[in-house]
Amino acid sequence: MNARQLSRREFLSLCSATAAAACGGVDGIDDPVAETVGAGGAGTSSISVGSGTAGEGGGGGAGTNPSGAGGDGGQGGTDPGDPTDAEPVDPWDAPGQQDDVAFAWGVQSGDATTTAVLLSVRSTEPELSLTVMRGTSMGWEEAASGQLFTSQDGMVHLELTSLLPDTVYAVAFYSKDGQRRSRVARFRTAIPDGSSRVVRFGATSCFGDVNDPWPSVSHSIKHKLDFFLLLGDAIYADNDPDKFDYVAKYKHALSLSGLQDLTAGTSIVATWDDHEIDNNWSWSTPGIQMQFDEALAAFRQHLPQRVAGAPTQLWRRLSWGDALDIFVLDCRGERKDGLYISVAQMDWLKQELVASTAAFKVIMTSVPIFDFTGTVIGSAAAADRWQGYPTQRNELLDHVRDQSVKGVLWISGDVHFGAVAQVDPDGGPGDDQWEIIAGPTGSFINPVAFLLKGKRMPVVQSKHNWVMVEADPATGEAIVRFIGDAGNELATHTLKLH
Ligand SMILES: [Fe+2]
Repeated sequence: MNARQLSRREFLSLCSATAAAACGGVDGIDDPVAETVGAGGAGTSSISVGSGTAGEGGGGGAGTNPSGAGGDGGQGGTDPGDPTDAEPVDPWDAPGQQDDVAFAWGVQSGDATTTAVLLSVRSTEPELSLTVMRGTSMGWEEAASGQLFTSQDGMVHLELTSLLPDTVYAVAFYSKDGQRRSRVARFRTAIPDGSSRVVRFGATSCFGDVNDPWPSVSHSIKHKLDFFLLLGDAIYADNDPDKFDYVAKYKHALSLSGLQDLTAGTSIVATWDDHEIDNNWSWSTPGIQMQFDEALAAFRQHLPQRVAGAPTQLWRRLSWGDALDIFVLDCRGERKDGLYISVAQMDWLKQELVASTAAFKVIMTSVPIFDFTGTVIGSAAAADRWQGYPTQRNELLDHVRDQSVKGVLWISGDVHFGAVAQVDPDGGPGDDQWEIIAGPTGSFINPVAFLLKGKRMPVVQSKHNWVMVEADPATGEAIVRFIGDAGNELATHTLKLH
């Protein structure tokens, strides 16, 4: 499909990573954190993408215009079409030759807000240009192109800003001569405050090598998801002789079709579990600080995510209008002094859950909050999940109940089977809360999972899977679909959450 020939959108500005911290940001992270919310950390440039008023020559657009679109320059202010809810039927047919050697790792987008998204790309090209296309009811129109970027350590990190809310975009990076390019990556910006609609998102965990290249998640691209939650164990840094070469692990993961297809199809929201650092690591592991620092840097480099507060802070909130808030927890990095999550993270979560007016509160926890007491798993390895920290677990579940927080949906992975689960038995503090356990996409299947099916787990899934959730704010229903390696629906369950 040809792009609609509106005026060429130029990049309006290029500011430093320091400036990005001021002009970017995560919706919904309140002061005082918001003042220190940056884009993707050091080395991230911020790119403002015009929304329909910029004419030719509006930015520092050295280089090429590889999309071939635009260039008339005289139609600033032309109606950009109706982007809201509109998505062209066909993906953007980008010009140029896709180079799967120079751009062997795809393009990743992450932590979309109403007006911004983070991009990262790895390439053997020393200089790259970017073309940004916006989807409208009329097709694809060029939003920006031409700026050249110099890679650092083989990567370019950008934040695109001044995007339109609830609008689909497609991007591709080009070689300096404009002839060769990356795969196209699609993403959608978040719903603005005051608006609501059905939100459709994916989630999974555990990209082990038992089932690579992870065929199930390749099918996510056709569902045109709003975003995809990565719940942990995106890499396994511990099962290889080069165990602590984190960058090599991410390069390998992103070179495989599953994760590359997933990230070509939508933006990600990532948290981690233990294997992004080391199997069952703890802060008492000798030499762990250096490992932690290296692992965190590689994690942030390859799975783009916003830095909220301190450089080591992963927990953050992303808002999708009145429909849904995503609460990203870090249940690994702050596990110390007998606590599962830090006091600061707990206080933030409790406060933000009460403050949220979104219909759904999706809480990403890398390991389940489900209490396995009374099941075949019982207390085995309980110290690895919320169950082993009953004081904090009860504090959180009691808070949700006592404050009448509606629409909570826990979503987790790690245990190598999929499930829909009632958090506590009847009479427990979380007996009216539900959890989706997603994955594994690539790791071995838990052999006892099938024994868990019952009243508290109406769905147990023992095949490699990812989960697609359609959350309808109007009805309070969330339709949960487990998708298998053939793109088939393995199981479906509807939760009524408010
Ligand atoms: Fe795992």
